[in-house]
Amino acid sequence: MRRIAVLVSGGGTNLQALIDAQGSVLCSGKIALVISNVPGAYALERAKNAGIATEMVTKKDCGSQVAFEDRLLQLLQKHEIDVIVLAGFMTILTEHFTGKYPNRIINVHPSLIPSFCGEGFYGLRVHQAALDYGVKVTGATVHFVNEVCDGGQIIAQKAVPVLEGDTPEVLQHRVMEQAEWILLPQAAEAVCAALGG
Ligand code: GAR
Repeated sequence: MRRIAVLVSGGGTNLQALIDAQGSVLCSGKIALVISNVPGAYALERAKNAGIATEMVTKKDCGSQVAFEDRLLQLLQKHEIDVIVLAGFMTILTEHFTGKYPNRIINVHPSLIPSFCGEGFYGLRVHQAALDYGVKVTGATVHFVNEVCDGGQIIAQKAVPVLEGDTPEVLQHRVMEQAEWILLPQAAEAVCAALGG
């Protein structure tokens, strides 16, 4: 059984999907740790409700990007983590961090990469950009994380229609429900299973 850490910043609906998938879709790994970089993030409540260990690390408290990443690395080591899932983790990690876990960090992004991705494209901004452009199809992507923001190898994608009258919030919910909450547990399972469960 591989030990998974989920890194979060917000509401944690993707974390919830992973928690709910444990024992069914997600059977080669177990969520051993949830780390938030935002104090009070609701995702932390979800972790606590599921009896999962939580940690808080803010860039502000650490003082620099390198110190922030070193603290994260220290916690991952302490909890003997094999696989890292970024689930709405709204901060960019540099090669100093990503280079330590090649092909062991995955991220869910709420668009069909390479559209509407990269620096500045996160959360509702991604859906606003899709609506502004006028695309008729969007979706979600799960990919490996490397030093290029949203640039790692794609693991899975699912298309979702954009409908007349969509707001960023309505579109976000459809993309989550029809794509993210399904793809992320499947991808986490695939990565854990490939490492030998
Ligand atoms: C999700 O839509 C996720 O794909 C997105 O933030 C949301 C987090 O929601 N992530 C990014 O935009 C990363 N670039 P959640 O906290 O409810 O899982």
